[in-house]
Amino acid sequence: MQTNNNCIVIFGASGDLTHRKLIPALYNLFKFGRLNKFSVLGVARSELNDETFREKMRESLLETEETTPETLDAFCSHLYYQAVNTSDAADYGKLVPRLEELHTKYQTNGNTLYYMSTPPSLYGVIPECLAAHGLNTEEEGWKRIIVEKPFGYDEKTAQELDVQIHRFFEEHQIYRIDHYLGKETVQNLLVLRFSNGLFEPLWNRNYIDYVEITGAEAIGVEERGGYYDGSGAMRDMFQNHLLQVLAMVAMEPPAIINANSMRDEVAKVMHSLRPLTQDDVEHNLVLGQYIAAEIDGKEVKGYLQEKGVPSNSRTETFMALRCEIENWRWAGVPFYVRTGKRLPARVTEIVIHFKTTPHPVFSQNAPENKLIIRIQPDEAISMRFGLKKPGAGFEAKEVSMDFRYADLADDQVLTAYERLLLDAMKGDATLFARTDAVHAAWKFVQPILDYKEAGGRVHEYEAGTWGPVAAEKLIAKSGRVWRKPSGKMKKKV
Ligand code: BG6
Repeated sequence: MQTNNNCIVIFGASGDLTHRKLIPALYNLFKFGRLNKFSVLGVARSELNDETFREKMRESLLETEETTPETLDAFCSHLYYQAVNTSDAADYGKLVPRLEELHTKYQTNGNTLYYMSTPPSLYGVIPECLAAHGLNTEEEGWKRIIVEKPFGYDEKTAQELDVQIHRFFEEHQIYRIDHYLGKETVQNLLVLRFSNGLFEPLWNRNYIDYVEITGAEAIGVEERGGYYDGSGAMRDMFQNHLLQVLAMVAMEPPAIINANSMRDEVAKVMHSLRPLTQDDVEHNLVLGQYIAAEIDGKEVKGYLQEKGVPSNSRTETFMALRCEIENWRWAGVPFYVRTGKRLPARVTEIVIHFKTTPHPVFSQNAPENKLIIRIQPDEAISMRFGLKKPGAGFEAKEVSMDFRYADLADDQVLTAYERLLLDAMKGDATLFARTDAVHAAWKFVQPILDYKEAGGRVHEYEAGTWGPVAAEKLIAKSGRVWRKPSGKMKKKV
């Protein structure tokens, strides 16, 4: 039986992710009684101590979480801190007595979960430095390591990183996190597909016309210009989050629900993506960058004016791609995927567009049959179909049948980081990316990286719009249009 009793060591403990996501997630797990015996050891270069680290975490929890002084005190008493020069192997020796002390105090049997929430340049270094002190071996308790995104910068660096980590940790110890897989609604996609006889017969090239996947954000790059400029929409959202979502839409039912079967199916989808040709990157891909505009009466900066962004940057803040999956289920069905910053709404959704009837009996414009799966916000599923318009004649109009997550009873829904941290502590890697799928995803996007590198076109779009006009043209070539979701699920579109 796996246990989640353990010490969680967070590298990058003074960083943004730690206080914005990781500590709040652990706090909530604690608050809802999901953690039993545990301690958290923050590690970073800053010269903090247990008390000052607790104080900082307490302050940020007070800002973001609903707390009571008792729960906050109780939680913070589990937090510890050790200053380490994270690029100096010798300095990791300081962790040995700290961990011994914590394992003894909390009776956590040597179980240790390392979380690399550091700049990616340290992802290869930390495992080696831990191994220098035997902190990777599973002789006493399990040792697992969570690797934050980005896992590599391209296909080659992802492979190199894997080699580096695999020298000291085996694949079963490595948890590559993609927080989209921790979202309840992404997991629900699997339940929707594989627990209902209704959808499966229709879920293929015979009945589906095309699939749209949108990951839109209303915010710009905010304070992260420095990081984002080296990444862009392709690496930041598409290669990982959106391809994982695409895999959930397209995968075959796994024989059983466990980490291997599930991830086998995800990997198969990644391997079946039709390789992008030169023609694809020139005609089925649109890259864009937002320029200054007025939104709701307020002047919004363009990407080039954002802090940390070089004024001549060609980094894309938008991308749209038409791609295909070469297998029996999906051959010939286009998948249109787009993502961008500074779009009109924050919304992540999947739209399955079903084929229309072979012959329109009632009106020339037969209503479209669509299944809209809203991942966030306002999580919902909406089925759109045609019914008779009341009155004379037989005119059909589009109606919808909606399900909203908010209507579900009072079950506590875990946030993505809560769910994934808990799974990693329990040793369940089902919702973590496996090495083969990550490499296949990089391989698929490599032609896009090459196109960018070779000076491929980056279109401008005004902040607050749905991206460059070229993206509209991309989908219009086949007589289709992108949905323009509002961020709220409405009865009518
Ligand atoms: C992160 C990206 O991985 O995902 C961010 O680095 C992006 O740029 C974020 O804003 C989106 O996540 P969510 O959960 O808000 O959709």
